Amino acid sequence: MPRFSVLDLQQKKADNQRIVMITCYDATMARLVDKAGIDMVLVGDSLGMVVQGLHDTLPVTLDDVIYHTRAVGRVLQTAHLVADLPFMTYQTSPEQALTSSGRVIKETNAQSVKLEGGERSAAAVQKIVEAGIPVVGHVGLTPQSVHTMGGFKVQGRDDESARRVVNDALAIEQAGAFCLVLEGVPVDVASEITTRLSIPTIGIGAGVDCDGQVLVCTDLLGMNLSFQPKFVKRYARLEETITDAFKAYADEVRQGVFPAVEHSFTRKTPRAIPKIYG
Ligand code: KIV
Repeated sequence: MPRFSVLDLQQKKADNQRIVMITCYDATMARLVDKAGIDMVLVGDSLGMVVQGLHDTLPVTLDDVIYHTRAVGRVLQTAHLVADLPFMTYQTSPEQALTSSGRVIKETNAQSVKLEGGERSAAAVQKIVEAGIPVVGHVGLTPQSVHTMGGFKVQGRDDESARRVVNDALAIEQAGAFCLVLEGVPVDVASEITTRLSIPTIGIGAGVDCDGQVLVCTDLLGMNLSFQPKFVKRYARLEETITDAFKAYADEVRQGVFPAVEHSFTRKTPRAIPKIYG
């Protein structure tokens, strides 16, 4: 089966089928995501926190995203592949946005790009779409604006802010995006946007009424149990599973239990190894 196209994903909204999206940054995880039948994979700039150990996404570069998207794209068979545009790779001008998007599409296997911002990003979205590159928008809590928001804060809680988020969503649809991520917005704001837009909305911390859902893969897998935001549900506790496995391995190596004979290689005809020198 070929990878899901933008048309397949839009059809899901028309058919009232929820879209499942997950972030992914490497080939090992991409293989498993595909095996699970996930619809969309995002190589998000969250790789800054998940892979690079940063506090926010701001230092992530276009080369970082291209590197990880290539790794994911080499193995992904059926999920639609989206690559994030990092901070300051599209904000300067629509031309810069197009140049960055062009690099992503030419140098990776991604089928679309994602960028943050509503009305202020509409011209960039339009420019990219006109060049034939599909765009996923991202409004509400936009992590690249962490300093403007004063932290990773839910947006649209009061009337004025809710109106801004709705207008942002409408502007991004109008500019030609095929899909919209809604992050960190109250349930009724996300619900209103989902009803008013003809393109699918993908929520994260955006309540129960979006057309789809996205989570960061390591969050849903419980790979960092000290991080538990309200909008995350854990489907596994891999932090425990993995550290238990690492400890068991370390114990066995220290006790001389591993490697055992069955993990060792033998020669075809065991005999004394001929001495070449001396
Ligand atoms: O970078 C990312 O992982 C994202 C998702 C959380 C939507 O933008």
